[in-house]
Amino acid sequence: MDLYPSMMCADYGKLADEVRALDAAGADSFHCDVMDGSFVPNMTMGLMDIKAVRASTSKPLDVHLMIEDPLGKLDLFVEAGADVIYIHPESERFVAKALLAIRDAGCAPGLAIDPDTPVAAIEDMLPIVDYVMVMTVNPGFAGQSFLEFTLPKIAQLAELKRAHDFTLVIDGACAPERIRQLSGMGADAFVLGTSALFGHGDYAQSMSRLRAQA
Ligand code: DX5
Ligand code: ZN
Repeated sequence: MDLYPSMMCADYGKLADEVRALDAAGADSFHCDVMDGSFVPNMTMGLMDIKAVRASTSKPLDVHLMIEDPLGKLDLFVEAGADVIYIHPESERFVAKALLAIRDAGCAPGLAIDPDTPVAAIEDMLPIVDYVMVMTVNPGFAGQSFLEFTLPKIAQLAELKRAHDFTLVIDGACAPERIRQLSGMGADAFVLGTSALFGHGDYAQSMSRLRAQA
């Protein structure tokens, strides 16, 4: 089970310290939420923030693009140090082209789907992605409630993993109990924000507890 701290929830008054602490606490990857205020009604991490995270860890950066026209802006995030780049099919006219361009740039391609986007919207592209991320909250804000109606979609993708080799990631309101339930259903990795990590005391203790209970 992989754990990805959601860096939009970190303390930006001491970002480098936060990254080092999370790295030492056992983070598998650093989830960087990028929002443009248009595709989602919020703005969070920018290129400078991603570069600052990059400079403070050698672990992978998991960059979640919640922006319009991700294909047109891809190079900015490759240069900023992304390892995995997720795009939303809801935000891109040329989804397959963007996924292939991510791989051509040397990064791992991922698809992130909104709560109301069915698996059918991405099934044909599963052969060309390495990651599928299911949004279990409406994208844009931390601290929301888990949307139960996404559970069948998670089960469906866990089944599809048998035929396709992708990592199934859950993003949104991943609390400890929920992580236990979803890892039992076949989810591989979890984005950790305010529901299980930030504001819950010692990072290492929180993450090792999550691993022990899975
Ligand atoms: C939501 C963000 C996530 C996450 C934050 O758009 O992509 O990073 O919700 O974690 P929680 O939901 O636990 O505060
Ligand atoms: Zn995210």
